[in-house]
Amino acid sequence: MSALEYIQQAIAALDWEREPRGLYEPVAYTLQAGGKRLRPALAVIASDMFGGRREEVLPAALALEVFHNFTLLHDDVMDKAPIRRGRPTVHVRWNENTAILSGDQMLIEAYRLLTEVPAGKLPAVLRLFNRMATGICEGQQYDMDFERRDDVTLDEYINMIRLKTSVLLANALQTGALIAGAPEETQQALYRYGICIGLAFQLQDDILDVYGDPATFGKAIGGDILEGKKTYMLLTALQQAEGEDREQLLRLLGDRHADPQKKISDVTAIYTRLGVRRTCEEVMKNYTQQALAELDLIDLPHERKLILINLAEKLLARTE
Ligand code: IPE
Ligand code: IPE
Ligand code: MG
Ligand code: MG
Ligand code: MG
Repeated sequence: MSALEYIQQAIAALDWEREPRGLYEPVAYTLQAGGKRLRPALAVIASDMFGGRREEVLPAALALEVFHNFTLLHDDVMDKAPIRRGRPTVHVRWNENTAILSGDQMLIEAYRLLTEVPAGKLPAVLRLFNRMATGICEGQQYDMDFERRDDVTLDEYINMIRLKTSVLLANALQTGALIAGAPEETQQALYRYGICIGLAFQLQDDILDVYGDPATFGKAIGGDILEGKKTYMLLTALQQAEGEDREQLLRLLGDRHADPQKKISDVTAIYTRLGVRRTCEEVMKNYTQQALAELDLIDLPHERKLILINLAEKLLARTE
């Protein structure tokens, strides 16, 4: 069975038939709505690479997915996002209080799952998990701070997405390798591979937020533009725009009362004129090359690494 199939079965078997329904129904609604299951799959793939037993990595892999889904509930409140995985977000389908509390319960459930990690590995797994979770909070705070700033640099943006997105992918890989007993240096190389594919992953997420097809992406298009998110594309556009484009872009960004659809289409038109998507894609390709270079440092036969080589390349072209 593939790592992904294994994870999908295990997630489907999680039981949320508990009371009160107001707390657990949104949890089931979120976890049963699909999603790519990338993080738990990475943990299982990393464990498989080193001959780990799947039962041993499973609790940590599930914890990572439940934790990821918790961050989405709170993130959708913070980003005022109406749709996720092709359905209304929890704060829209229910309300904000529900998104907060069911999210909290998912965070607790993630830690409960971690208690099932093999005892000898638990302290190390927990230390890494906590460092990752703190990183995400820091990244999410920068993400919000940057909405109100107009002097954000490209380096600051990269650091922000490293924290909000990359550390979770990197942690999944390191944790899987650690539980399977891989050497520390190898764990570190996998961690760095995860950071690099995570940066490319978030850059692509930002591209899809503008240019994606809502039917496959599962989220509303243009949310980042409306929320004033300082994405790589916006920062590049601000650097490159001249004359009329520049004036229009600054005017649109400052206009809180603009018609949302018009604002999205006007900003998108400027992006397209400047070709910022291409610039962003070049940066993604660079991070993917860096990710592959990290795999070269791992002392395993090439065929064992193929799944991660192919994944890095596949993520570049993802549409969902
Ligand atoms: C969404 O993650 C949050 C980001 C880091 C962009 P995914 O794109 O992995 O979402 P799902 O889990 O597949 O729905
Ligand atoms: C995701 O960033 C980061 C976390 C959820 C921690 P986004 O805000 O871009 O993710 P989406 O686009 O809502 O999935
Ligand atoms: Mg969001
Ligand atoms: Mg966000
Ligand atoms: Mg996004």
